[in-house]
Amino acid sequence: MKITVVGMGYVGIVAAAGLAAGGHEVLGVDIDRVRIEALDKGRVPLYEPGLEARVAEGLARGLLCFRHRDDVVEDLGEAALIATGTPPTHGGAADLNQVMAAVSWIKAAGRPGLVVVMKSTVPPGTRLCTKTRKVIRTG
Ligand SMILES: NC(=O)c1ccc[n+]([C@@H]2O[C@H](COP(=O)([O-])OP(=O)(O)OC[C@H]3O[C@@H](n4cnc5c(N)ncnc54)[C@H](O)[C@@H]3O)[C@@H](O)[C@H]2O)c1
Repeated sequence: MKITVVGMGYVGIVAAAGLAAGGHEVLGVDIDRVRIEALDKGRVPLYEPGLEARVAEGLARGLLCFRHRDDVVEDLGEAALIATGTPPTHGGAADLNQVMAAVSWIKAAGRPGLVVVMKSTVPPGTRLCTKTRKVIRTG
């Protein structure tokens, strides 16, 4: 299966490397060009035991590749997993800006019928799924 993971932080890199290790073809996307260039060379900008080896293996097998969001020209595949940040606001809610930007980009770049998987975490009651569905259905 071809899968795009949006957001190459802790969660996204681990998910991307794990899915590639499971034989999936994975595209890892971020808006941080320095981070993408490092990942593309097999350098992981955080410590997680075994992760760098998994990333190197995925790159070597051609199952894992990394792109800046603005450079993506390939098909996003059958599913896109969102792993962008949801930092807390001053009021204690989750800031959804990164997630909603990712949803809008997936809608514009993905094929019809692509499955959107939400890995980013928000407090109960945020209505993230409802907001995501609205963007996907109406833009
Ligand atoms: N860190 C954890 O252990 C953990 C565990 C479970 C869930 N989560 C949740 O997963 C989500 C991600 O957590 P994290 O720790 O990996 O966050 P992070 O801040 O380390 O990484 C987020 C990444 O998303 C990128 N990004 C931001 N906007 C983007 C966009 N529009 N398009 C593409 N990339 C974009 C950022 O540049 C960054 O590299 C959060 O919602 C968090 O609450 C985290």
